[in-house]
Amino acid sequence: MTAPNIDTIVSLAKRRGFVFPSSEVYGGLGSAWDYGPLGVELCNNVKQAWWRWLVYERDDIEGIDSSIILNRLVWQYSGHEATFHDPLVDCRECKSRMRADKLEGYFPEEGPHAAFDANARIRAGLVKCSECGSTNLTDERFFNMMFRTTLGAAAAEDDPAALAYLRPETAQGIFINFLNVQTTMRRKIPFGIAQIGKSFRNEITPGNFILRTREFEQMEMEYFVKPDAEHFKLVDEWVALYLEWFKGLGIDTANLQLKEVPAEELAHYSKRTVDIMYRYFPERAEEERQWEELMGIAYRTDFDLRSHSSKPTDAEGKRVNPDSTEDLSYFDESMKQRFYPHVIEPAAGVNRTVLAVLMDAYSERTNDKGETRVILKLSPQLAPIKAAILPLAKNKPEIVGMAKAIKRSLQPVLRAVYDDTGGIGKLYARQDEIGTPFCITVDHQSLEDEAVTVRDRDTWEQERVKVSDLAEHLQKRLKPFPVATPETAS
Ligand code: GAP
Repeated sequence: MTAPNIDTIVSLAKRRGFVFPSSEVYGGLGSAWDYGPLGVELCNNVKQAWWRWLVYERDDIEGIDSSIILNRLVWQYSGHEATFHDPLVDCRECKSRMRADKLEGYFPEEGPHAAFDANARIRAGLVKCSECGSTNLTDERFFNMMFRTTLGAAAAEDDPAALAYLRPETAQGIFINFLNVQTTMRRKIPFGIAQIGKSFRNEITPGNFILRTREFEQMEMEYFVKPDAEHFKLVDEWVALYLEWFKGLGIDTANLQLKEVPAEELAHYSKRTVDIMYRYFPERAEEERQWEELMGIAYRTDFDLRSHSSKPTDAEGKRVNPDSTEDLSYFDESMKQRFYPHVIEPAAGVNRTVLAVLMDAYSERTNDKGETRVILKLSPQLAPIKAAILPLAKNKPEIVGMAKAIKRSLQPVLRAVYDDTGGIGKLYARQDEIGTPFCITVDHQSLEDEAVTVRDRDTWEQERVKVSDLAEHLQKRLKPFPVATPETAS
Protein backbone atom coordinates (compact mmCIF):
# COMPACT_ATOMS: atom_id res chain seq x y z
CA MET A 1 0.00 0.00 0.00
CA THR A 2 1.15 3.55 -0.66
CA ALA A 3 -0.34 6.86 0.47
CA PRO A 4 -3.55 7.62 -1.47
CA ASN A 5 -2.36 11.17 -2.17
CA ILE A 6 0.21 13.80 -1.14
CA ASP A 7 -2.32 15.48 1.22
CA THR A 8 -2.32 12.38 3.45
CA ILE A 9 1.44 12.82 3.88
CA VAL A 10 1.15 16.60 4.43
CA SER A 11 -1.18 16.00 7.35
CA LEU A 12 0.85 13.12 8.83
CA ALA A 13 4.05 15.14 8.40
CA LYS A 14 2.63 18.09 10.32
CA ARG A 15 0.85 16.03 12.99
CA ARG A 16 3.92 13.99 13.81
CA GLY A 17 6.76 16.50 13.46
CA PHE A 18 8.25 15.70 10.05
CA VAL A 19 7.49 18.86 8.07
CA PHE A 20 5.81 22.14 9.05
CA PRO A 21 4.62 25.00 6.82
CA SER A 22 7.35 27.63 7.06
CA SER A 23 6.84 31.04 8.71
CA GLU A 24 3.43 29.92 9.95
CA VAL A 25 3.28 32.55 12.71
CA TYR A 26 3.21 35.20 9.96
CA GLY A 27 0.67 33.42 7.81
CA GLY A 28 3.24 31.22 6.05
CA LEU A 29 5.35 31.73 2.95
CA GLY A 30 4.03 30.12 -0.22
CA SER A 31 5.60 26.72 -0.85
CA ALA A 32 8.27 26.99 1.86
CA TRP A 33 8.53 24.18 4.39
CA ASP A 34 10.52 23.56 7.58
CA TYR A 35 11.75 20.11 8.54
CA GLY A 36 10.89 19.20 12.14
CA PRO A 37 12.67 16.86 14.57
CA LEU A 38 11.72 13.71 12.64
CA GLY A 39 11.95 15.28 9.18
CA VAL A 40 15.53 16.41 9.66
CA GLU A 41 16.49 12.88 10.78
CA LEU A 42 14.79 11.36 7.73
CA CYS A 43 16.53 13.81 5.36
CA ASN A 44 19.89 13.14 7.03
CA ASN A 45 19.37 9.40 6.75
CA VAL A 46 18.56 9.67 3.02
CA LYS A 47 21.66 11.82 2.46
CA GLN A 48 23.87 9.48 4.50
CA ALA A 49 22.57 6.44 2.60
CA TRP A 50 23.40 8.17 -0.69
CA TRP A 51 26.85 9.31 0.43
CA ARG A 52 27.69 5.86 1.82
CA TRP A 53 26.51 4.19 -1.37
CA LEU A 54 28.50 6.40 -3.77
CA VAL A 55 31.47 7.81 -1.86
CA TYR A 56 32.27 5.01 0.63
CA GLU A 57 31.14 1.80 -1.05
CA ARG A 58 32.62 2.60 -4.47
CA ASP A 59 36.28 3.24 -5.19
CA ASP A 60 35.83 5.79 -7.96
CA ILE A 61 33.95 8.72 -6.39
CA GLU A 62 35.12 11.63 -4.23
CA GLY A 63 32.90 14.05 -2.33
CA ILE A 64 33.05 17.86 -2.09
CA ASP A 65 31.06 20.73 -0.58
CA SER A 66 31.33 23.89 -2.67
CA SER A 67 30.00 27.42 -2.05
CA ILE A 68 26.38 28.30 -2.72
CA ILE A 69 27.40 31.74 -4.01
CA LEU A 70 29.93 31.43 -6.81
CA ASN A 71 31.58 33.99 -9.06
CA ARG A 72 28.90 35.33 -11.39
CA LEU A 73 31.04 34.30 -14.36
CA VAL A 74 30.36 30.66 -13.49
CA TRP A 75 26.70 31.21 -14.38
CA GLN A 76 27.55 33.23 -17.43
CA TYR A 77 29.75 30.50 -18.93
CA SER A 78 27.56 27.62 -17.76
CA GLY A 79 24.77 29.12 -19.89
CA HIS A 80 22.43 29.73 -16.95
CA GLU A 81 22.36 33.52 -17.30
CA ALA A 82 21.21 33.24 -20.89
CA THR A 83 18.99 30.17 -20.82
CA PHE A 84 17.79 29.27 -17.33
CA HIS A 85 14.39 30.81 -17.75
CA ASP A 86 10.71 29.96 -18.05
CA PRO A 87 8.03 31.77 -20.11
CA LEU A 88 5.67 33.79 -17.95
CA VAL A 89 2.23 35.39 -18.56
CA ASP A 90 -0.22 37.41 -16.49
CA CYS A 91 -3.98 37.10 -16.62
CA ARG A 92 -5.55 40.56 -17.08
CA GLU A 93 -8.83 39.32 -15.58
CA CYS A 94 -7.89 37.51 -12.36
CA LYS A 95 -4.33 38.94 -12.07
CA SER A 96 -2.76 35.48 -11.75
CA ARG A 97 0.82 35.01 -12.91
CA MET A 98 1.57 31.66 -14.51
CA ARG A 99 4.08 29.61 -16.45
CA ALA A 100 2.87 30.03 -20.03
CA ASP A 101 4.03 26.64 -21.31
CA LYS A 102 1.83 24.86 -18.73
CA LEU A 103 -1.38 26.49 -20.00
CA GLU A 104 -4.08 24.91 -22.13
CA GLY A 105 -3.71 25.95 -25.75
CA TYR A 106 -0.08 27.15 -25.48
CA PHE A 107 1.27 24.51 -27.82
CA PRO A 108 -0.20 23.93 -31.29
CA GLU A 109 -2.09 20.69 -31.97
CA GLU A 110 1.01 19.12 -33.52
CA GLY A 111 2.62 19.24 -30.05
CA PRO A 112 5.47 21.11 -28.36
CA HIS A 113 7.99 20.17 -31.02
CA ALA A 114 6.33 22.04 -33.88
CA ALA A 115 7.52 25.57 -34.71
CA PHE A 116 5.02 28.15 -33.41
CA ASP A 117 4.68 31.76 -32.30
CA ALA A 118 3.50 31.71 -28.68
CA ASN A 119 2.49 35.37 -28.58
CA ALA A 120 0.49 35.04 -31.79
CA ARG A 121 -1.43 32.18 -30.15
CA ILE A 122 -1.98 34.20 -26.94
CA ARG A 123 -3.25 37.22 -28.90
CA ALA A 124 -5.53 34.97 -30.96
CA GLY A 125 -7.21 33.90 -27.68
CA LEU A 126 -6.10 30.26 -27.94
CA VAL A 127 -4.34 30.13 -24.55
CA LYS A 128 -6.40 29.88 -21.34
CA CYS A 129 -5.69 31.13 -17.82
CA SER A 130 -5.42 28.10 -15.51
CA GLU A 131 -7.16 30.00 -12.69
CA CYS A 132 -10.21 31.64 -14.29
CA GLY A 133 -10.25 30.29 -17.85
CA SER A 134 -9.93 33.77 -19.41
CA THR A 135 -7.96 34.19 -22.64
CA ASN A 136 -7.20 37.84 -21.83
CA LEU A 137 -3.50 37.24 -21.19
CA THR A 138 -0.38 39.38 -21.57
CA ASP A 139 2.34 38.42 -24.06
CA GLU A 140 4.80 35.92 -22.67
CA ARG A 141 8.12 37.16 -21.38
CA PHE A 142 11.07 35.18 -20.14
CA PHE A 143 11.87 35.09 -16.48
CA ASN A 144 15.30 33.94 -15.27
CA MET A 145 14.84 31.61 -12.31
CA MET A 146 18.13 32.34 -10.57
CA PHE A 147 17.81 34.24 -7.28
CA ARG A 148 19.85 37.43 -7.40
CA THR A 149 21.75 39.02 -4.58
CA THR A 150 24.44 41.66 -4.21
CA LEU A 151 27.82 41.13 -2.62
CA GLY A 152 29.39 43.58 -0.19
CA ALA A 153 27.94 46.08 2.25
CA ALA A 154 28.29 49.11 0.02
CA ALA A 155 26.95 47.60 -3.20
CA ALA A 156 23.96 49.32 -4.77
CA GLU A 157 21.11 46.94 -5.58
CA ASP A 158 21.54 47.30 -9.31
CA ASP A 159 25.36 47.37 -9.36
CA PRO A 160 26.34 44.77 -12.00
CA ALA A 161 29.82 44.45 -10.45
CA ALA A 162 28.24 43.22 -7.20
CA LEU A 163 25.61 40.97 -8.78
CA ALA A 164 25.69 37.34 -7.65
CA TYR A 165 23.29 34.40 -7.70
CA LEU A 166 22.27 31.66 -5.31
CA ARG A 167 23.19 28.48 -7.18
CA PRO A 168 20.34 26.83 -9.10
CA GLU A 169 22.23 23.51 -9.23
CA THR A 170 25.13 22.07 -7.22
CA ALA A 171 26.75 20.73 -10.40
CA GLN A 172 28.70 23.87 -11.34
CA GLY A 173 30.58 23.81 -8.02
CA ILE A 174 31.81 20.37 -9.07
CA PHE A 175 32.88 21.37 -12.60
CA ILE A 176 34.94 24.34 -11.46
CA ASN A 177 36.70 22.07 -8.92
CA PHE A 178 37.36 19.25 -11.38
CA LEU A 179 41.13 19.85 -11.59
CA ASN A 180 41.49 20.52 -7.84
CA VAL A 181 39.94 17.17 -7.03
CA GLN A 182 41.58 15.23 -9.84
CA THR A 183 45.10 16.42 -9.03
CA THR A 184 44.94 16.41 -5.22
CA MET A 185 43.34 12.96 -5.09
CA ARG A 186 45.50 11.66 -8.01
CA ARG A 187 42.44 10.41 -9.85
CA LYS A 188 42.38 8.83 -13.29
CA ILE A 189 39.40 8.94 -15.64
CA PRO A 190 36.82 7.47 -15.13
CA PHE A 191 35.95 8.87 -11.73
CA GLY A 192 33.16 10.89 -10.19
CA ILE A 193 32.63 13.83 -7.83
CA ALA A 194 29.57 13.87 -5.57
CA GLN A 195 27.99 16.77 -3.73
CA ILE A 196 24.93 17.30 -1.54
CA GLY A 197 23.61 20.79 -0.94
CA LYS A 198 20.92 23.42 -1.22
CA SER A 199 19.94 24.88 -4.56
CA PHE A 200 17.56 27.74 -5.26
CA ARG A 201 15.20 28.43 -8.13
CA ASN A 202 12.65 31.21 -8.27
CA GLU A 203 9.98 28.81 -9.57
CA ILE A 204 6.97 30.58 -11.09
CA THR A 205 4.56 27.89 -9.93
CA PRO A 206 5.97 26.01 -6.94
CA GLY A 207 3.62 23.61 -5.19
CA ASN A 208 2.59 20.12 -4.20
CA PHE A 209 4.19 20.20 -0.76
CA ILE A 210 7.96 19.55 -0.92
CA LEU A 211 7.84 18.40 -4.54
CA ARG A 212 8.50 21.82 -6.08
CA THR A 213 9.87 24.54 -3.83
CA ARG A 214 12.11 27.54 -4.37
CA GLU A 215 14.73 26.29 -1.93
CA PHE A 216 15.55 22.59 -2.10
CA GLU A 217 18.38 20.15 -1.69
CA GLN A 218 20.15 18.17 -4.39
CA MET A 219 22.37 15.07 -4.41
CA GLU A 220 24.36 15.38 -7.61
CA MET A 221 27.25 13.40 -9.02
CA GLU A 222 29.33 14.22 -12.08
CA TYR A 223 30.99 11.12 -13.52
CA PHE A 224 33.93 12.01 -15.80
CA VAL A 225 34.66 9.65 -18.67
CA LYS A 226 36.65 9.55 -21.91
CA PRO A 227 35.31 11.32 -25.01
CA ASP A 228 34.95 7.96 -26.80
CA ALA A 229 33.21 6.13 -23.94
CA GLU A 230 29.79 4.61 -24.62
CA HIS A 231 27.95 7.57 -23.15
CA PHE A 232 24.39 6.50 -23.87
CA LYS A 233 25.09 3.05 -22.43
CA LEU A 234 26.56 4.66 -19.31
CA VAL A 235 23.34 6.63 -18.86
CA ASP A 236 21.43 3.32 -18.94
CA GLU A 237 23.85 1.80 -16.41
CA TRP A 238 23.37 4.67 -13.98
CA VAL A 239 19.60 4.47 -14.43
CA ALA A 240 19.76 0.77 -13.48
CA LEU A 241 21.93 1.53 -10.43
CA TYR A 242 19.54 4.22 -9.21
CA LEU A 243 16.48 2.02 -9.69
CA GLU A 244 18.18 -0.51 -7.39
CA TRP A 245 19.10 2.22 -4.93
CA PHE A 246 15.53 3.49 -4.71
CA LYS A 247 14.38 -0.10 -4.25
CA GLY A 248 16.89 -0.43 -1.40
CA LEU A 249 15.30 2.65 0.21
CA GLY A 250 12.00 0.77 0.26
CA ILE A 251 10.37 2.27 -2.86
CA ASP A 252 8.25 -0.19 -4.82
CA THR A 253 9.49 -0.39 -8.41
CA ALA A 254 5.84 -0.38 -9.56
CA ASN A 255 5.81 3.28 -8.49
CA LEU A 256 8.87 4.15 -10.59
CA GLN A 257 8.90 4.75 -14.32
CA LEU A 258 11.48 5.89 -16.86
CA LYS A 259 11.01 8.81 -19.22
CA GLU A 260 13.34 9.34 -22.15
CA VAL A 261 13.36 13.15 -22.39
CA PRO A 262 12.53 14.17 -26.00
CA ALA A 263 15.36 15.93 -27.83
CA GLU A 264 13.38 19.19 -27.99
CA GLU A 265 13.02 19.31 -24.20
CA LEU A 266 16.65 18.61 -23.33
CA ALA A 267 18.55 21.18 -21.25
CA HIS A 268 21.08 23.22 -23.23
CA TYR A 269 23.98 21.01 -22.03
CA SER A 270 22.43 17.59 -22.54
CA LYS A 271 22.64 15.14 -25.44
CA ARG A 272 20.48 12.59 -23.64
CA THR A 273 18.50 12.61 -20.39
CA VAL A 274 16.47 9.85 -18.80
CA ASP A 275 14.20 10.89 -15.94
CA ILE A 276 13.20 8.50 -13.20
CA MET A 277 9.59 9.35 -12.42
CA TYR A 278 7.67 8.55 -9.24
CA ARG A 279 3.90 8.11 -8.94
CA TYR A 280 3.32 11.16 -6.71
CA PHE A 281 -0.33 11.50 -7.80
CA PRO A 282 -1.91 8.01 -7.61
CA GLU A 283 -5.34 9.62 -7.17
CA ARG A 284 -5.38 11.16 -10.65
CA ALA A 285 -7.61 9.34 -13.09
CA GLU A 286 -5.36 9.78 -16.10
CA GLU A 287 -2.37 7.45 -15.66
CA GLU A 288 -0.13 9.88 -17.57
CA ARG A 289 -0.72 12.65 -15.00
CA GLN A 290 0.21 10.49 -12.01
CA TRP A 291 3.95 10.79 -12.55
CA GLU A 292 6.47 13.53 -11.76
CA GLU A 293 10.27 13.61 -12.00
CA LEU A 294 12.14 12.16 -9.04
CA MET A 295 15.57 12.59 -10.62
CA GLY A 296 17.33 12.83 -13.98
CA ILE A 297 20.38 11.13 -15.49
CA ALA A 298 21.97 13.27 -18.19
CA TYR A 299 24.84 12.96 -20.64
CA ARG A 300 26.29 16.48 -20.40
CA THR A 301 29.07 15.89 -22.97
CA ASP A 302 32.20 17.99 -22.33
CA PHE A 303 30.07 21.16 -22.40
CA ASP A 304 30.77 22.39 -18.87
CA LEU A 305 34.51 21.67 -18.57
CA ARG A 306 35.08 23.19 -22.00
CA SER A 307 32.95 26.28 -21.23
CA HIS A 308 34.89 27.01 -18.04
CA SER A 309 38.29 26.51 -19.69
CA SER A 310 40.67 29.20 -20.87
CA LYS A 311 41.94 27.47 -24.02
CA PRO A 312 39.05 26.57 -26.38
CA THR A 313 38.74 28.94 -29.35
CA ASP A 314 35.99 29.64 -31.87
CA ALA A 315 36.16 29.36 -35.67
CA GLU A 316 38.01 32.68 -35.86
CA GLY A 317 40.59 31.58 -33.27
CA LYS A 318 39.15 33.80 -30.50
CA ARG A 319 39.08 32.45 -26.95
CA VAL A 320 35.56 31.27 -26.08
CA ASN A 321 36.15 32.05 -22.41
CA PRO A 322 38.54 35.01 -22.03
CA ASP A 323 37.78 35.22 -18.28
CA SER A 324 38.94 31.78 -17.18
CA THR A 325 42.48 31.38 -15.86
CA GLU A 326 42.50 27.56 -16.00
CA ASP A 327 42.31 24.88 -18.63
CA LEU A 328 40.15 22.08 -17.25
CA SER A 329 41.43 19.45 -19.67
CA TYR A 330 42.90 16.13 -18.64
CA PHE A 331 46.02 14.33 -19.87
CA ASP A 332 45.53 10.61 -20.23
CA GLU A 333 48.87 8.86 -19.70
CA SER A 334 47.83 5.57 -21.27
CA MET A 335 46.53 7.22 -24.46
CA LYS A 336 49.14 10.01 -24.40
CA GLN A 337 46.30 12.35 -25.19
CA ARG A 338 44.83 15.51 -23.71
CA PHE A 339 41.06 15.96 -23.78
CA TYR A 340 38.06 17.48 -22.01
CA PRO A 341 36.37 14.67 -20.09
CA HIS A 342 32.74 13.95 -20.91
CA VAL A 343 30.21 13.76 -18.11
CA ILE A 344 27.36 11.49 -17.04
CA GLU A 345 25.29 13.26 -14.39
CA PRO A 346 22.81 11.54 -12.07
CA ALA A 347 21.01 14.46 -10.35
CA ALA A 348 18.56 13.64 -7.57
CA GLY A 349 16.51 15.77 -5.18
CA VAL A 350 16.65 15.07 -1.43
CA ASN A 351 13.15 16.45 -0.88
CA ARG A 352 11.55 14.51 -3.72
CA THR A 353 13.27 11.34 -2.50
CA VAL A 354 11.97 11.98 1.03
CA LEU A 355 8.44 12.52 -0.32
CA ALA A 356 8.58 9.33 -2.40
CA VAL A 357 9.92 7.37 0.59
CA LEU A 358 7.13 8.69 2.84
CA MET A 359 4.40 7.97 0.28
CA ASP A 360 5.67 4.46 -0.34
CA ALA A 361 6.07 3.68 3.38
CA TYR A 362 2.51 4.71 4.22
CA SER A 363 0.19 1.87 5.15
CA GLU A 364 -2.89 1.26 7.26
CA ARG A 365 -3.83 -1.71 9.42
CA THR A 366 -6.91 -2.50 11.50
CA ASN A 367 -6.27 -3.64 15.07
CA ASP A 368 -8.39 -6.20 16.98
CA LYS A 369 -10.64 -3.39 18.25
CA GLY A 370 -11.49 -2.49 14.68
CA GLU A 371 -9.48 0.77 14.79
CA THR A 372 -7.46 1.86 11.78
CA ARG A 373 -3.80 2.46 12.55
CA VAL A 374 -1.27 4.16 10.31
CA ILE A 375 2.04 2.36 10.00
CA LEU A 376 4.94 4.07 8.29
CA LYS A 377 6.92 1.11 6.99
CA LEU A 378 10.14 3.04 6.48
CA SER A 379 13.27 1.10 5.63
CA PRO A 380 15.01 0.70 9.02
CA GLN A 381 18.08 2.56 7.74
CA LEU A 382 15.89 5.62 7.08
CA ALA A 383 13.67 5.53 10.17
CA PRO A 384 14.22 8.71 12.24
CA ILE A 385 14.08 6.73 15.49
CA LYS A 386 15.27 3.13 15.55
CA ALA A 387 13.99 2.06 18.96
CA ALA A 388 11.51 3.46 21.50
CA ILE A 389 11.93 2.33 25.10
CA LEU A 390 8.55 2.21 26.84
CA PRO A 391 7.98 1.45 30.53
CA LEU A 392 4.82 -0.53 31.18
CA ALA A 393 4.24 1.22 34.54
CA LYS A 394 5.46 4.81 34.78
CA ASN A 395 4.67 5.00 38.50
CA LYS A 396 7.17 2.21 39.29
CA PRO A 397 10.57 3.86 39.80
CA GLU A 398 12.48 0.58 39.25
CA ILE A 399 10.83 0.04 35.84
CA VAL A 400 11.33 3.68 34.81
CA GLY A 401 14.96 3.55 35.97
CA MET A 402 15.63 0.37 34.03
CA ALA A 403 13.96 1.75 30.86
CA LYS A 404 15.99 4.97 31.04
CA ALA A 405 19.21 3.01 31.58
CA ILE A 406 18.45 0.87 28.51
CA LYS A 407 17.84 4.02 26.46
CA ARG A 408 21.16 5.48 27.57
CA SER A 409 23.01 2.25 26.79
CA LEU A 410 21.56 2.09 23.24
CA GLN A 411 22.02 5.77 22.40
CA PRO A 412 25.73 5.48 21.35
CA VAL A 413 24.93 2.81 18.73
CA LEU A 414 21.51 3.84 17.47
CA ARG A 415 18.89 6.57 17.84
CA ALA A 416 16.66 5.57 20.76
CA VAL A 417 14.01 7.51 22.68
CA TYR A 418 12.29 7.01 26.03
CA ASP A 419 8.54 7.66 26.15
CA ASP A 420 6.09 7.31 29.04
CA THR A 421 3.51 9.88 27.96
CA GLY A 422 0.59 7.47 27.51
CA GLY A 423 -0.76 3.96 27.82
CA ILE A 424 1.16 1.25 25.99
CA GLY A 425 -1.40 0.99 23.15
CA LYS A 426 -1.13 4.73 22.44
CA LEU A 427 2.66 4.63 22.61
CA TYR A 428 2.84 1.73 20.13
CA ALA A 429 0.44 3.55 17.78
CA ARG A 430 2.52 6.72 17.89
CA GLN A 431 5.76 4.88 17.13
CA ASP A 432 4.11 2.92 14.28
CA GLU A 433 2.94 6.18 12.74
CA ILE A 434 6.44 7.69 12.72
CA GLY A 435 8.06 4.51 11.42
CA THR A 436 10.05 3.34 14.47
CA PRO A 437 11.03 -0.27 13.65
CA PHE A 438 11.21 -1.48 17.27
CA CYS A 439 9.42 -0.78 20.53
CA ILE A 440 11.14 -2.13 23.63
CA THR A 441 8.83 -2.66 26.58
CA VAL A 442 10.13 -2.87 30.13
CA ASP A 443 7.68 -4.63 32.49
CA HIS A 444 7.56 -6.10 36.00
CA GLN A 445 9.12 -9.34 34.81
CA SER A 446 12.08 -7.41 33.36
CA LEU A 447 13.14 -6.60 36.91
CA GLU A 448 13.44 -10.32 37.60
CA ASP A 449 14.75 -11.83 34.35
CA GLU A 450 16.76 -8.87 32.94
CA ALA A 451 14.87 -9.25 29.64
CA VAL A 452 12.56 -6.97 27.65
CA THR A 453 9.87 -7.38 24.98
CA VAL A 454 10.91 -6.31 21.47
CA ARG A 455 7.90 -5.50 19.27
CA ASP A 456 8.23 -5.42 15.50
CA ARG A 457 6.53 -2.44 13.79
CA ASP A 458 5.46 -4.30 10.65
CA THR A 459 4.24 -7.61 12.06
CA TRP A 460 3.35 -6.47 15.62
CA GLU A 461 5.05 -9.69 16.74
CA GLN A 462 6.82 -9.65 20.09
CA GLU A 463 9.84 -11.53 21.37
CA ARG A 464 11.70 -11.59 24.63
CA VAL A 465 15.36 -10.51 24.48
CA LYS A 466 17.98 -10.35 27.25
CA VAL A 467 19.04 -6.77 28.00
CA SER A 468 22.68 -7.82 27.64
CA ASP A 469 21.98 -8.99 24.04
CA LEU A 470 19.70 -6.09 23.08
CA ALA A 471 22.15 -3.74 21.31
CA GLU A 472 23.55 -6.55 19.14
CA HIS A 473 20.06 -7.97 18.46
CA LEU A 474 18.78 -4.58 17.23
CA GLN A 475 21.88 -3.73 15.22
CA LYS A 476 21.65 -7.03 13.36
CA ARG A 477 18.03 -6.38 12.43
CA LEU A 478 18.74 -2.75 11.47
CA LYS A 479 21.56 -3.55 9.04
CA PRO A 480 21.12 -1.33 5.96
CA PHE A 481 19.23 -3.02 3.17
CA PRO A 482 21.62 -4.14 0.43
CA VAL A 483 21.89 -1.72 -2.47
CA ALA A 484 23.42 -2.32 -5.85
CA THR A 485 27.16 -2.06 -6.29
CA PRO A 486 28.60 -1.59 -9.82
CA GLU A 487 29.22 -5.37 -9.99
CA THR A 488 25.69 -6.38 -9.00
CA ALA A 489 24.00 -3.98 -11.41
CA SER A 490 25.79 -4.90 -14.62
N1 GAP B 1 22.29 19.55 -12.47
C1 GAP B 1 21.16 19.10 -13.16
C2 GAP B 1 19.90 19.49 -12.54
O1 GAP B 1 19.88 20.32 -11.64
P1 GAP B 1 17.33 19.14 -12.64
O2 GAP B 1 16.52 18.06 -13.32
O3 GAP B 1 16.96 20.54 -12.92
O4 GAP B 1 18.83 18.84 -13.04
C3 GAP B 1 17.70 17.66 -10.52
O5 GAP B 1 17.30 18.89 -11.07
C4 GAP B 1 16.73 17.23 -9.43
O6 GAP B 1 16.62 18.26 -8.44
C5 GAP B 1 15.29 17.02 -9.91
O7 GAP B 1 15.13 15.74 -10.50
C6 GAP B 1 14.53 17.14 -8.60
O8 GAP B 1 14.62 15.96 -7.85
C7 GAP B 1 15.31 18.24 -7.89
N2 GAP B 1 14.64 19.54 -8.10
C8 GAP B 1 14.78 20.37 -9.14
N3 GAP B 1 14.01 21.48 -8.97
C9 GAP B 1 13.36 21.33 -7.80
C10 GAP B 1 12.43 22.12 -7.07
N4 GAP B 1 12.04 23.31 -7.51
N5 GAP B 1 11.97 21.64 -5.89
C11 GAP B 1 12.38 20.43 -5.41
N6 GAP B 1 13.27 19.65 -6.05
C12 GAP B 1 13.76 20.08 -7.23
